[in-house]
Amino acid sequence: MSEPTILILNGPNLNLLGVREPALYGSDTLGDVEEACRERAGLLGVDIDFRQSNHEGVLIDWIQEARGTAAGIVLNAGALTHTSVAIHDALKASDLPVIEVHLSNVFRREPFRHHSYISSVAVGVICGFGVASYVLAVEAMAGALGVGDKAAA
Ligand code: DQA
Repeated sequence: MSEPTILILNGPNLNLLGVREPALYGSDTLGDVEEACRERAGLLGVDIDFRQSNHEGVLIDWIQEARGTAAGIVLNAGALTHTSVAIHDALKASDLPVIEVHLSNVFRREPFRHHSYISSVAVGVICGFGVASYVLAVEAMAGALGVGDKAAA
């Protein structure tokens, strides 16, 4: 039987990870984040499809396609988290479990980052743990999908 796929989506400016405000976001690149997710996913027995776009419409297209191809969505929508009703609607329409992630603790930052259009359509939110936020989200999604830990089996 094929393993379930978790779609991990990254929004605007996350391609700059490693060079963008390293004091805030750390020195790991998005490639490093993908590698960490792949490693954990392999142990959990899930596949991941890891993508980034700076374009809201592209993210929405991917969310729509995920309905037929993915078992769940892990999403760091970047700044679109705080602005995009369209991503909120796309996630709702996907009927898939969603976990919202952020590298930084958005609640320690500017007030405009305290509101999210994603949280109300997400199973849960993980923020503030840097790259580990993603790894924790992969674990949480595997749990939500009822997929076991191969290492523990
Ligand atoms: C972010 C937090 C957002 O407020 C910001 O716009 C980002 C990154 C995070 O991962 O901490 O681009 O989503």
